[in-house]
Amino acid sequence: MSATLLDGKKLAESIRKGLVPRIEALKNKAIIPGLAVLLVGEDPASISYVSAKEKACEELGMKSFEKRLPANASEAEIVSVVKSFNSDPKVHGILVQLPLPKNVSETKVIEAISPEKDVDGFTPENLGRMMIEEPCYLPCTPHGVIKLIETAGVHTKGANAVIVGRSNIVGKPLSVLMTRKSINSTVTVCHTGTKNLAEHTKRADILIACAGVPELIKGDMVKPGACVIDVGVNRVTDATKAKGWRLAGDVDFNAVKEVAGSITPVPGGVGPMTITMLLFNTVEAAERSAVRK
Ligand code: GUN
Repeated sequence: MSATLLDGKKLAESIRKGLVPRIEALKNKAIIPGLAVLLVGEDPASISYVSAKEKACEELGMKSFEKRLPANASEAEIVSVVKSFNSDPKVHGILVQLPLPKNVSETKVIEAISPEKDVDGFTPENLGRMMIEEPCYLPCTPHGVIKLIETAGVHTKGANAVIVGRSNIVGKPLSVLMTRKSINSTVTVCHTGTKNLAEHTKRADILIACAGVPELIKGDMVKPGACVIDVGVNRVTDATKAKGWRLAGDVDFNAVKEVAGSITPVPGGVGPMTITMLLFNTVEAAERSAVRK
């Protein structure tokens, strides 16, 4: 293996350690940072993400409040749960696990979240403030990716950053953050309409794969020495595993690690950073609520 491993688990632990005294200070003011989580339906991956987020909260002495609704819950029922979280003073952060069932408008549900409690950074208010570099909650996965790149000392100024994927929760916000002056990369966003994907990825000094397609990025699509960030978490069928599946990123890790300069593993790369930035935003929301009191 030639690439350096970018250890998201280790960085996540060190950021979480930094939150401990802030949580203690809040507790001294009788405030326990609280994250409310709404899970609609029974998607196994969503159930597993939500339990990881709740476990991380509790490990740091924060509170988590879970509400589950069946897959056939109406938009009105979902919005009503969000509104009850908005008005609950014990709740500082709200997370509605996505995706929502097809009959429900994610936009409508997200718009119902109070921007002050939007620790996912998904509301139009927070996304707009991110665009104009005003204080806001940054979306957790893009924020985690930026922290990983910065901590690894990757040269970003003037670098060609290629993002493969244009989702509202990862690709689009990352494209905005990577063009901030503090990072100053030249950004290309590739998507399903992109012609000749490899032509773009091969020019990337920083390649961020967030398409949700297992092992999309092959070794011959990567520039030697590039920093490769794999946001993908895909369950692929694997009869050799007891569960019948294994986790695969959007990057063909075994091939790409021989070409890249640095690479994130799956699991243990971006995933722990996403959860950590959620905790970070929730602590911040609790601190801001203390100031407003
Ligand atoms: N589904 C996949 N990633 C995320 C995330 O970061 N937040 C929420 N709420 N749902 C997701």
